[in-house]
Formats: sequence, C-alpha cells, structure tokens
Amino acid sequence: MDNYEGFLGQGSIVNNVTGPKSSKIFGQCRVSDTTLHEKATIGDFSTIRESEIGEMSSIQRHCDIWRLDLGRYTCVGRMSTIQGTKIGSFCALSWNLKIGGDDHDYHMLSTHPFWHNVSWGIAEDKKYSDFYHEKEYEEPCVIGNDVWIAAGVSICRNVHIGNGCVIGAGAVITRDLEPYSVVVGVPGKVIKKRFSDEIIERLERAQWWNLPINVIHDNLSLFRNSHLNEEILEKIEFLCEENKF
Ligand SMILES: CC(C)(COP(=O)(O)OP(=O)(O)OC[C@H]1O[C@@H](n2cnc3c(N)ncnc32)[C@H](O)[C@@H]1OP(=O)(O)O)[C@@H](O)C(=O)NCCC(=O)NCCS
Repeated sequence: MDNYEGFLGQGSIVNNVTGPKSSKIFGQCRVSDTTLHEKATIGDFSTIRESEIGEMSSIQRHCDIWRLDLGRYTCVGRMSTIQGTKIGSFCALSWNLKIGGDDHDYHMLSTHPFWHNVSWGIAEDKKYSDFYHEKEYEEPCVIGNDVWIAAGVSICRNVHIGNGCVIGAGAVITRDLEPYSVVVGVPGKVIKKRFSDEIIERLERAQWWNLPINVIHDNLSLFRNSHLNEEILEKIEFLCEENKF
C-alpha cells in the first residue's frame, strides 16, 4: 500500500512508501518500506529501504540506504552507503561515507556468506539465511545530533557517536566517541574537544536541537556568532528551558 503523495521523478519506483505532498523523490530512485516526513528529499539514483527520513532531511544522489532512522534537518552527502543506523537532527554528513557495514565472522572456515545466504545457491534453508541477516544488524550504529562527518569517513558497526562530534575527512571510526570530540585519522583518534567539559555538559543538558524551528529562526544570531560565549550559552539555555516539552 503506498501513501506517497509527494513529487516522484522520472523512472523512480516506490513500494510501501509514505510521504506528504512536500516530500520529493527525484529520478531513477528505488524506495521501499520507508516513511518520509515533511519536505524530506531523496536525490537521483538512490536506493532507500526500510527507513525513516525526518522533516527537511535529505539524502543526496547515488546513495544506498538500508534501515536508517534519520532525524530532522540532517543531510547525507552523495554516494554514501548507510546500513542499520540511527542518526539525530541537524547533522551535516558529507559525501562518500560508509556507515554500519556488517562484520563477517572471520573465526569460521570462510568469511564468505554462501553458507547462510541462499542467493548463492549452495545453502537452501531460507529461515537460517534470514536469521543471520537479522543478527548482523541487531545492534545499530547510533550517531547523535549536531554531528559533522567530513568526506570519505567510514564508521564500523555498533559504534556510538556522541552529540556535537566532528569527524575529519577520511577517518575510520572503530570505537565510541564522547560528545563534542574532534577526531581524525585511521583508526580515528580524538585530537581535541570542541569546548570545555563544563560547556559540553551544559550543551548536552540544553539540547538546542530539539527547539521548535520558529524559535531557532528567531534566534539565528546565536548560531551565526563565530564563537560560543557565556552570553550565547545562557540565552540558548534559557530558550531550551522555556520550550521544554
Ligand atoms: C578535521 C578538521 C575539521 C580539523 O580541522 P582543525 O581543527 O582546523 O585541525 P588542524 O588543522 O588544527 O589539525 C590538527 C592536527 O590534525 C591533523 N589533521 C587534520 N585533519 C585531518 C584529517 N582529516 N586526517 C588526518 N589528520 C588530520 C593535522 O595534520 C594536525 O596534525 P599535527 O598537529 O600533527 O600537525 C579538518 O582537517 C577536516 O578534515 N575537514 C574536512 C573537510 C571536508 O571533508 N569537507 C567536506 C565538506 S563537508
């Protein structure tokens, strides 16, 4: 059953997709078992399965997405592959990312999946195949809010990335990251924090990313100032307190 009311580009096919009039799926996409929220967009040639795309969030062209739970106002850059992942709001994800790929068990005789995946024509028990398929993705990757992931980053399975992190271009992230860490390299190492521990604690408490959009709109100057100072922090704390739900 499709409840998709949004724009559908040439050659795109949807199957069991829900989305309002304001959502857009551009050309040559394959989208199935997915919910799009207000003004969500999917770029050309992307494949999206079993996912939820939040308000105003966008997946750019040539992405391959499976089981992604995406918050609002988050963008995913072109040619990215994401599997089994939950991502918060106001995240800026660059291009060419690889997030959440499953691990093959290398303790066994072979790392090739033919022994459980029926599509190779050797194993025949579909139930066994499905069981292993689900098991591989039972623990999602979790990425917080206001996270910037630069170009060409890989994030391994089951990793948790805290709010406000910055991940430098080309990094490979194999371990959990604390909020507001700046991380570079292979494997990813924390080179600094964006702010002091005290400020991070206050930002974590305030959670500005949950503010109503009209409040963010009316207070854009707080975000435009080139340095976070006490005055801005106090104002954002006040707004978050005032708009708690
Ligand atoms: C991570 C990043 C933001 C760091 O910026 P920064 O805080 O100004 O960091 P600095 O330039 O002071 O570098 C600090 C150290 O980390 C190293 N470093 C910086 N970025 C790195 C990266 N991506 N990979 C490996 N090392 C890196 C620097 O060489 C430097 O090392 P040194 O102290 O031994 O000289 C930036 O380097 C980056 O990767 N930007 C990504 C740009 C991009 O992909 N944009 C796509 C559009 S979204």
